[in-house]
Amino acid sequence: MYSCQRRMKVCIPLPHAAVRVSLLVLAVQLVLLVCGGQASDNIKRCKLFSESPKEVNVLRLLEPLTNQNFSVEEKNGKESYRYQFQVCGDAGKTPGAGLVQIDQNGKETETVIGLYTVTQAIGGSDWVMLIYRNGSKYDGHCSQEMRKAIVMISCNRNVAAGTLRVVLEDRDKERDCFYLFELDSSVVCPALPSQLSAGSIILIIGFVLLSVYLIGGFLYQRLIVGAKGVEQFPNYYFWTHVGNLAADGCNFVCRTRGPEEQPPTYSGVSTEPEEEPECDDHLLPM
Ligand SMILES: *[C@@H]1O[C@H](CO)[C@@H](O)[C@H](O)[C@H]1NC(C)=O
Ligand SMILES: *[C@@H]1O[C@H](CO)[C@@H](O)[C@H](O)[C@H]1NC(C)=O
Repeated sequence: MYSCQRRMKVCIPLPHAAVRVSLLVLAVQLVLLVCGGQASDNIKRCKLFSESPKEVNVLRLLEPLTNQNFSVEEKNGKESYRYQFQVCGDAGKTPGAGLVQIDQNGKETETVIGLYTVTQAIGGSDWVMLIYRNGSKYDGHCSQEMRKAIVMISCNRNVAAGTLRVVLEDRDKERDCFYLFELDSSVVCPALPSQLSAGSIILIIGFVLLSVYLIGGFLYQRLIVGAKGVEQFPNYYFWTHVGNLAADGCNFVCRTRGPEEQPPTYSGVSTEPEEEPECDDHLLPM
């Protein structure tokens, strides 16, 4: 195939149809690879401050929650704050801040509650506790230590990502103060145990194989071999003779003596029947 432009007299060979199809497939695969790669990388923006394989696995559960903004407003008397949270992403204007508090009274000043670059991830059977440390320092409370955010993510099979809720701000003590939040999500739920027993799975597989055999064989016999009537059943001959074959097999296996074996005869007397003259009829006089 050639696409020719008359004026320029240049012929460009167009790729063959098969080549074009494989190029398309390659392009789709590349797109999937790039998107898939990005999707599994979001979680890596979180830096575990003491990394362990267990924590990496716990964190990996939260991948579907990345790139989502969670926010909640909290009114306390005349104070009003909005909290913004992201899983391993910038929740506000401060780079590295995964949970920020925004003062709603006027200037919208942003206070960093915790950095996702100093993360800790603890997981149980149906929950994950995500901890962001190294937030801005308290002004007067908690010995002026750095703020810390704890987000408790609990299993709820009905929601992919629920709403963020403020549980408490524990700051009236000397140290280890924290902000506690909670969130429901199905991503931390344990895998449901299979409802089917091994026996029923085997039965189902057997049934499916039988159906495939019958339907495939029927179509093959009808369309390719061109069989009619009952002969359209796959291996019709085999199945109609299966009884005989089984009987032959049993005969062979179960019998202690071969069927041809004759009881011993008197010695000297031939056990073979005398050969009858067969074709000498024409020799006899009519
Ligand atoms: C999250 O919010 C920020 C602004 O605070 C916005 O720029 C960003 O696009 C939002 N991301 C998503 C996934 O909605
Ligand atoms: C977090 O704070 C600790 C001190 O408490 C400090 O040693 C560490 O370097 C900080 N990490 C980051 C990423 O800011």
